[in-house]
Amino acid sequence: MTKPKRNQPKKARLIPLQDGPLLYENEVNPEGNVIYDWHGNEISCEEPVCLCRCGGSADKLFCDGTHVKIGFSGRKESDGSVNGGRDYAGKRITIHDNRYLCSHAGFCWRELPAVFRKEARPWIDPDAADPEDIIAVIEKCPSGALSYSIDGVEQKDPERKPAAIVAKDGPYCLVGGIEVVGCEPRAESVSTEHCCCCRCGSSKNKPFCDGSHDRIDFKDAKD
Ligand code: SF4
Ligand code: FES
Ligand code: FES
Repeated sequence: MTKPKRNQPKKARLIPLQDGPLLYENEVNPEGNVIYDWHGNEISCEEPVCLCRCGGSADKLFCDGTHVKIGFSGRKESDGSVNGGRDYAGKRITIHDNRYLCSHAGFCWRELPAVFRKEARPWIDPDAADPEDIIAVIEKCPSGALSYSIDGVEQKDPERKPAAIVAKDGPYCLVGGIEVVGCEPRAESVSTEHCCCCRCGSSKNKPFCDGSHDRIDFKDAKD
């Protein structure tokens, strides 16, 4: 791992390189640039590492230069800062939602289908469950698409050590306040602690995942 210079603050950050990979460096985590796969196994990286975000590398998770051959564009097509965000005010809790950040992990609609109703409009009913149960589900949301307020006070983010976790057939899920360079402050999201970054190359809200990996049926080679 590259050692930080004296007096320089340690960094945990992801740098989206123009029309290329995500450069990941994590000096804050005592274990360094560790990445966790979807089984929870550690993939140790000695140095800052280039992670594929075009979806085309034959050596996933790592960039093998394919982005050049396929003419990958890292351009953001949607303006998540001004659209996609909506509040659903209930009697005891207000749920905040930004569809442009949802990574389709599905914790919400699988665990509380009465509140998060895939087929209904509006799709969120904040009064259909106890706030404690809603909070427990929102705390599992990896992308920051969901958050909540009670009595006008926004949720506190969890405190976790910085780490990158790879979702099977999906995005890179960042926790622990890893900076996504060029995207701060994260106007799209209440959370500055966690977010999901696109790995398949098809998000319209790059560098963030917007769930498009489902639409294109993005697949990892390994289980
Ligand atoms: S990312 Fe969050 S909002 Fe999207 S499906 Fe998963 S839990 Fe629901
Ligand atoms: S970003 Fe380089 S191969 Fe995908
Ligand atoms: S990984 Fe989710 S949109 Fe690309």
